Amino acid sequence: MSAAAATKDAVEIAQGVHWIGALDPDLRSFDIILRTANGTTYNAYAVRGKKGVAIIDTVKESFSGEFFRRLESVTDYAEITTIVLNHLEPDHSGALPELLRRAPQARVYLSVRAQMMLKALLKPANGGVPEYTPVSTGFEVDLGGRTLHFLHTPYLHWPDTQCTFLKEDGILFTGDVFGCHFCDERLYNDRVGDFRFSFEYYYAHIMRPFRSYVLEALTLIEPLKLSMIAPAHGPILTHSPQDYVRRYRELATPRLYNEAHSDKTLLVFYLSAYGNTRRMAEALATGAENVSGVRVSIYDLEGCEPGIFTDLVEEADCLAIGSPTINGDAVKPIWDLLSSLATVNVSGKLGIAFGSYGWSGEAVSLIEDRLRGLKLRVPLTGLRLKLSPDEAELAQCRQLGESLATHLTYQPPQVLV
Ligand code: FEO
Repeated sequence: MSAAAATKDAVEIAQGVHWIGALDPDLRSFDIILRTANGTTYNAYAVRGKKGVAIIDTVKESFSGEFFRRLESVTDYAEITTIVLNHLEPDHSGALPELLRRAPQARVYLSVRAQMMLKALLKPANGGVPEYTPVSTGFEVDLGGRTLHFLHTPYLHWPDTQCTFLKEDGILFTGDVFGCHFCDERLYNDRVGDFRFSFEYYYAHIMRPFRSYVLEALTLIEPLKLSMIAPAHGPILTHSPQDYVRRYRELATPRLYNEAHSDKTLLVFYLSAYGNTRRMAEALATGAENVSGVRVSIYDLEGCEPGIFTDLVEEADCLAIGSPTINGDAVKPIWDLLSSLATVNVSGKLGIAFGSYGWSGEAVSLIEDRLRGLKLRVPLTGLRLKLSPDEAELAQCRQLGESLATHLTYQPPQVLV
């Protein structure tokens, strides 16, 4: 297969299995927040069996022309018996309404959780909802000598996501999983340019918030005898596909060595213009250390980029965030830190806020609102102190730290029955 063939034609990735996706080399930001130096691809596939053809995913709507040209080069619409939707985000479902118009006889297969999204996507003006079958792990479709076997893998990266395994060929169609934003018309992982950075970046921003779901999905994927992983973005993983499965296992497994691993971990982050919020942070940390079973770490955000703390935050049990109030707000590095947490699951962790202020002191309540917005639990009212804390106020800080640590280590009494 030449590069030129890849840009113009469908590409046969296995006998009777074709890539019919689209190349988007000029894309520089995806979903507004994700940057890409190499564009992306919207990978879709056609699988031919003796009984008919299955189409697996489609492409972004603006690339429909490219998709249908490739599709028509490998099948007539009348042969399409099956449409598999591994993920309904518009970059994969954009051409679906038109595909359904052209192949109305095809049966749609999608995850149970995708049903509501399908109905929202295919409103009457968009063709209405076709006949479909909701599927879960173990459900199979016989294409005639070829079997599609579904795996329930939700939240990778929306609730609706699933993977589809072409059993006889060992090809796993994964949707976003194992994908990346990297457009290279050579298509295969052992022919394209080095895309490791893109694979890791994609995992960090798309999959990482759903780490527990990644681990659940891997328990379904790891036993499979894979010849190839065919994701919905980026290179098709024909060379050593299991290496990418192993990499996902590594990325999704907590990897920081915590010397006091049985302890609860409290991270104290602060910025301080005149040393007052810093003294509060140190006093809070001292108070927390009075409670056994808590490991306290304290960081001045003036000294580093917030991104380096992502791993720590992901594995921590509690965050205490301290900021002075400047112009009625917390200071920017605090917002940068909180913004960086969008890529990790912090739901259910404890959080509190504190800070010194001159005349208004809004930072504390603003930080608390943000912590709640990120679904942390904020069990204690934050502490704001005017200008330089005196001894009594520092004692308040120590007390706050101690109370927080007590919350952190609280074990509900066991009920004897
Ligand atoms: Fe590639 Fe979540 O869509």
